[in-house]
Amino acid sequence: MVAKTMDQLVSLCKRRGFIFQNADIYGGMQGVYDYGPLGVELKNNLKAAWWRSMVYERDDIEGLDAAILTNRKVLHYSGHEDTFSDPMTDCRKCKGRFRADHIKDGKCPNCGSTDLTEPRPFNLMFKTTVGPVDNAENLAYLRPETAQAIFTQFKNVVDSTSRKLPFGIAQIGKSFRNEITPRNFIFRVREFEQAELEYFVMPGEDEKWHEMWKEARIKWWEEQGLPREHINIYTTPKEDLAHYAKACYDIEYQFPHGMEELEGIANRTDYDLGNHTKGQDELNLTSHCHPNSDSTTKLCIRDDESNSWVVPFVIEPSMGVDRGVLAVLTEAYEEEDLGEGNSRIVLKLKKHLAPIKVAIIPLKKNNEAIMNKCHEIKQNLLKLGIGRVALENTGNIGKAYRRHDEVGTPLCITVDFETIENQPESVTIRDRDTMEQHRVNIADLPTYLREYFLG
Ligand code: GLY
Repeated sequence: MVAKTMDQLVSLCKRRGFIFQNADIYGGMQGVYDYGPLGVELKNNLKAAWWRSMVYERDDIEGLDAAILTNRKVLHYSGHEDTFSDPMTDCRKCKGRFRADHIKDGKCPNCGSTDLTEPRPFNLMFKTTVGPVDNAENLAYLRPETAQAIFTQFKNVVDSTSRKLPFGIAQIGKSFRNEITPRNFIFRVREFEQAELEYFVMPGEDEKWHEMWKEARIKWWEEQGLPREHINIYTTPKEDLAHYAKACYDIEYQFPHGMEELEGIANRTDYDLGNHTKGQDELNLTSHCHPNSDSTTKLCIRDDESNSWVVPFVIEPSMGVDRGVLAVLTEAYEEEDLGEGNSRIVLKLKKHLAPIKVAIIPLKKNNEAIMNKCHEIKQNLLKLGIGRVALENTGNIGKAYRRHDEVGTPLCITVDFETIENQPESVTIRDRDTMEQHRVNIADLPTYLREYFLG
C-alpha cells in the first residue's frame, strides 16, 4: 500500500527522527532539511547500495569525491552561467514569486490574481566569494550538479587508472540550486544530494549504452523496494531537454504528490568534455571543442582501434538521493489493521536499507543480569558487520515493538528470564513484517543473522 499523504510521511519523519526542518527553532529555512538519527542511517544505506552496485560490483567504474566550491570558469564553459535558469514570474498583487511553468490557468497560486509579470529567466546557482575580497574576480559557485568535477577531472582519472572506453566515474555529494519555489518536503529542495555516474563511451555507441543504463537503473530501483508498477519511464521531449542533452529518460516514481522524476538518465554527448577542451589542434579531435576555452587540458582519450584521440560521449544516470529516500519511505509506509480495534504503522523497508537492523530488548527494565546479557549479545552482533544494532532499556516490550515497526527495524531480539536461567541460552526473535516470534539459541545467532542480512 502506498502512503496516503505526504503529511503522514512528514509526521512520521519528525516523530521518529528521520528528517527535521532546518533551523526549526528559528522558524526554519525554506527548502532546507536536516537528517536526524534514523534519517542519516537510511540515507547512508541508500547511498551505500548505489555505490556498491556502481563501483564495487562492476569492473569499469571508478569513484570520485570532488569539492563543492566550483571555479567560475567551469560553470561558464559548461553553459550553466548562461542557461541554468528557470522562468520566474511575479504577482503584482501579492508580490509573490513563482516558477512560471508551474502556474496553472494564468493565476497566482497564492492569491489567484491574473496580474502577473512576463516570465524572465532566474539563474539557479548559489554564488559565493572565495577569499577575503568580495569582488567579481573572486566569485565562485556552490556546484549545481556533481557532474562538472567528473568532467574536469576526466584526464586525471584516465591518466592515473589507465582506463579505456567504455568506463565510468561515479560520485555522491551535495549540490545546490536556488529553487524559486521549493516544495513537497524533501522532493524539491535548495540543498540536496546527488549520486551521479558519468559513463564515457565511443561516439556512435552512445544510444546503445543509453538503453542499457535505463534498464540497469530500473532494475536497481526495484531492488530498493519500488515495484515496477509504481515506476514510469518518461522520454523528455526535445524542446524540454537540458542545454547539454541530446536525449533523456526520466525514471519517475508514484510519490504522494504525483508521478515525478526520481532519476534522470541523459545522453550528454561530448558536450561537456568538448566545452572544457580548447579548439581543434594537432590531436585532430573530431569533437566540437570550445574555440576560446581557457582550459589547459584536452579532455580526450586514446582509442587503440582507430589509433586516434577521441572526445568520448557520456551517458549520465543522475539520481536525487533525497528523492530516493522519499520514494523508499513512501513505498515502505503501511498502516495495518490488526483487528479488535488495534492497528500499527510499519515501515516495510528492504532490510539493507533499514536504519536499525536489530533491536535488542530486555524483558525487564534495569535488571542487571538481563542487561548484561543484552550488552554481551550486542557486542557479538556488531562483529557481524550487519549495520546498526540498537539496545533498549525501556522494559515495555509492546511499545518497543511498535516503535521499531514504525522505523522499519526488521528484527527484534528479546532477552528474558529464560535466557539467563536456562541452558542452552536462547532469545526470542520477532519478525517486523509477520510479527511472528520464535526462539533461537544464542550460539546460533551469528549464523542466523548473517544468513538473514547478508545471505
Ligand atoms: N547532472 C544532471 C543534473 O544535475 O540534473
